[in-house]
Amino acid sequence: MRLIILGPPGAGKGTQSEFIVEHTGALHLSTGDIFRENIKNGTPLGKRAKEYMDRGALVPDEVVNDIVTDRIKSMGPEGSFLLDGFPRTVNQAVALDGALEEIGVTLDCVININVDKEALIQRIVGRRVCPTCGKSYHVTHFPPKVDGVCDDDGTQLIQRDDDQEETVRHRIDVYERQTTPLIDYYKAQDNLVDIDGNQSVQEVKDRILAALQGVQRA
Ligand code: AP5
Ligand code: MG
Repeated sequence: MRLIILGPPGAGKGTQSEFIVEHTGALHLSTGDIFRENIKNGTPLGKRAKEYMDRGALVPDEVVNDIVTDRIKSMGPEGSFLLDGFPRTVNQAVALDGALEEIGVTLDCVININVDKEALIQRIVGRRVCPTCGKSYHVTHFPPKVDGVCDDDGTQLIQRDDDQEETVRHRIDVYERQTTPLIDYYKAQDNLVDIDGNQSVQEVKDRILAALQGVQRA
């Protein structure tokens, strides 16, 4: 399947991507994860991205677009992917459409997760992530089995550098200004599915998988 998961910082994109990937077999492509991996490895891309990420700003389109569109094109028409954190501007969405057109395919579904603003802040401030596999936990809503340790690989969990409350508020503002126009963009393409993300992780998962069931049958 060719999917996008859209939603503000803290909406649960990463959390739900894990379930969607398990269910569909799609490749999870998270631009945030790609940048964090590059920062960890000290690459030039990582250095460039960090300048923007640390202050909650978007990395410029000309840096992001080729990374994703090259991957999509290299997968060809049989490629099955879930984009998390991309596109984030109309310019990025247009670049994605160009890549899809080049390989002769279209998107199957854009999953749009809606969550109230104050809940987003609470979720992000309580988030802990695994620096090895990238899995997200929450100190109270979605804790690991052993306090502070990743269930999957036993690594000590950390807080992301951009998860301080002030930066989070800025990231949410940036989302509202630069990314919400994509909701109308994909509504016009008739493939947007709205999901109420104010529910528990399990309830949101059930709703998304039910929505995808409808898409698979179409
Ligand atoms: P990115 O990594 O994409 O971050 P984001 O969009 O801000 O989203 P988050 O990863 O913070 O949240 P999420 O929706 O994945 O939530 P999660 O599942 O972890 O981007 C980071 C930065 O990289 C950007 O600011 C930008 O600088 C740059 N960047 C990336 N892509 C870019 C692009 N395309 N263009 C330009 N720049 C780009 O959940 C959050 C917490 O809530 C967790 O603790 C989780 O356990 C908990 N939780 C999840 N679901 C629930 C629930 N239902 N109930 C209760 N708690 C829940
Ligand atoms: Mg994420």
